Amino acid sequence: MDQFLIQGGIPLSGEVQVSGAKNSALKLLIASLLCEGRHYFRNVPNLVDIHSTAKLLETLGVKTFFENDLFICDVGPAQQTLAHYDLVRKMRASILVLGPLLTKYGRAQVSLPGGCAIGNRPIDLHIEALRQMGAEITIEEGYVHARASRLKGTKILFDQVTVGGTENVLMAAVLAEGKTVIENAAKEPEIVDLANFLITLGAKIKGQGTSCIEIEGVNSLRASGKEYVVMPDRIEAGTLLLAGAITGGRVKVQQAPPFHLEALFSKLREAGFKIVEEADGVTLESPSGGHRAVDVTTAPYPHFPTDLQAQFMALMCFAHGTSVITETVFENRFMHVPELMRMGADITSKSRVAVVRGRPRGLTGAPVMATDLRASASLVLAGLAAQGQTTVNRIYHLDRGYERLEQKLQCLGAKVERIAT
Ligand code: EPZ
Repeated sequence: MDQFLIQGGIPLSGEVQVSGAKNSALKLLIASLLCEGRHYFRNVPNLVDIHSTAKLLETLGVKTFFENDLFICDVGPAQQTLAHYDLVRKMRASILVLGPLLTKYGRAQVSLPGGCAIGNRPIDLHIEALRQMGAEITIEEGYVHARASRLKGTKILFDQVTVGGTENVLMAAVLAEGKTVIENAAKEPEIVDLANFLITLGAKIKGQGTSCIEIEGVNSLRASGKEYVVMPDRIEAGTLLLAGAITGGRVKVQQAPPFHLEALFSKLREAGFKIVEEADGVTLESPSGGHRAVDVTTAPYPHFPTDLQAQFMALMCFAHGTSVITETVFENRFMHVPELMRMGADITSKSRVAVVRGRPRGLTGAPVMATDLRASASLVLAGLAAQGQTTVNRIYHLDRGYERLEQKLQCLGAKVERIAT
């Protein structure tokens, strides 16, 4: 299992390009199931989760390959509509094949994804919504068995905001009979990217990016033959800006606006950083003399993203003052806390609240263990700022969601190397 060896204490500076968004690309590839033919995607990040998705799609009649930096999905008629446990357990987002298979073929058998490090991650909201659209769904032997002659459009009101639930229903609704209205829909930019791709296939969707999305079902979709460009990864952009912040440096992320990071920018400004948004990217400049502690509460977009909570907590470990961090989206997303404490961080956490007493003189490097994707990023950031050497173990977690992160950090001046063990 590879590890990162990091020499801390170097202020990062320079410019860096982010990759395409993992949490959009995965869904776009899955959405191609809705329409036979060849789909061309640009800016698909080269990540473990993308390869897992490609493997799953191959079992569902889709040939996938990279060809001069285009990712191509050649969708044939699905020979079978089973998403096997061995594939789904590796990548929870595989549950999103349920909606497309059900609405396209009238049947689907998809393994339950099971929980993960950050929480139980149930899919009850997905199932309930599809049942309301007329699907007959049973859960047997760890699989969701779903059938529907043709899904019927209806009004779906989600009890709580769910990104995956919104995406499953959005994809199911595009071929359903009649109109579907999703109330309390997730507003994440990745939902907008998915809706915009579906519209290129002939889907009739409006309201994407708001809490009310309307879909008029159509009888069939057509591959556009044009390439679809995946949006830039806002979480990677935020992570790289936080790398500049935690080391007291000056970093520019080259990315066309909108950056979709308003909540992060406002917290960074409150902490004393200067954020300049321009036509070709966003620049973070660190205050001399260190940054202030600020409180953060995560919540669905456009509020502070849960996927940047761990990274922001690392920043607060070096702040002047005390920060209270509240995680409202997942029930177990503080796995980075004990590892940060190994580096000398002064944190008390209870259930969904962590109190971080900042230590401006900083933390000391130590061997630490990655437990999940964003916790790993948090440990890398802390290692970049800590005095001495930090070894981050099990960085396969990182490879699921960050493409060539060590190279991107090296081009900003970081002393980080990947050691194969
Ligand atoms: C997506 O997960 C992202 N993953 C997550 O990013 C992200 O943290 C999350 O949205 C929130 O923004 C992908 O896009 C692949 P949810 P998802 O359904 O869709 C509960 C990362 O690090 N819930 O919005 O699974 C659920 O348990 C990953 O890149 C139910 O109770 O998130 C959670 O507490 C991590 N029942 C909350 O809702 C359901 O049926 C939000 O989950 C569905 C969800």
